[in-house]
Amino acid sequence: MDSLPEAKLIRAMHAKDLAPVGEILKRYLGEWLGGPKAYSQERGHPRLRMRHMQFRIGPAERDAWMLCMSGALDEVVADPALREQLLQSFYKLADWVRNDDGNPHDAQNREHSLRAP
Ligand code: HEM
Repeated sequence: MDSLPEAKLIRAMHAKDLAPVGEILKRYLGEWLGGPKAYSQERGHPRLRMRHMQFRIGPAERDAWMLCMSGALDEVVADPALREQLLQSFYKLADWVRNDDGNPHDAQNREHSLRAP
């Protein structure tokens, strides 16, 4: 994120020193992948959407985030099939974190509540 020009817009949202949030992300991802519950123990329920609401996240921010994650996966995951599987799962998560007007998940919820009695 520090080195990609395409990531400038999301780099600017983060604190100057990325190390502390990097550690938090590591714990979150360990837990997400079925490892020890180190994130929840320290931070409580992830509530990922809620924790990102203070930042404007649309398709451009999602794609910049995915570019960074894709680069990180290239560095550490040797198996191409596993890399692809992880990328797909990350994409779903990153798209769901979006909080712009065009988020299809919110549109679905709106439709749901309109139909509810
Ligand atoms: C879609 C684009 C995304 C953007 C622009 C974004 C941006 C951010 C920002 C600005 C922070 C706060 C960092 C700080 O305090 O300096 C943050 C925190 C965090 N993000 Fe994201 N994020 C995105 C997607 C994701 C996704 C897909 C995940 C999970 C795989 C994720 C996991 C986290 C976690 C675990 C934290 C720390 C939460 C806590 O405080 O406990 N983010 N993100």
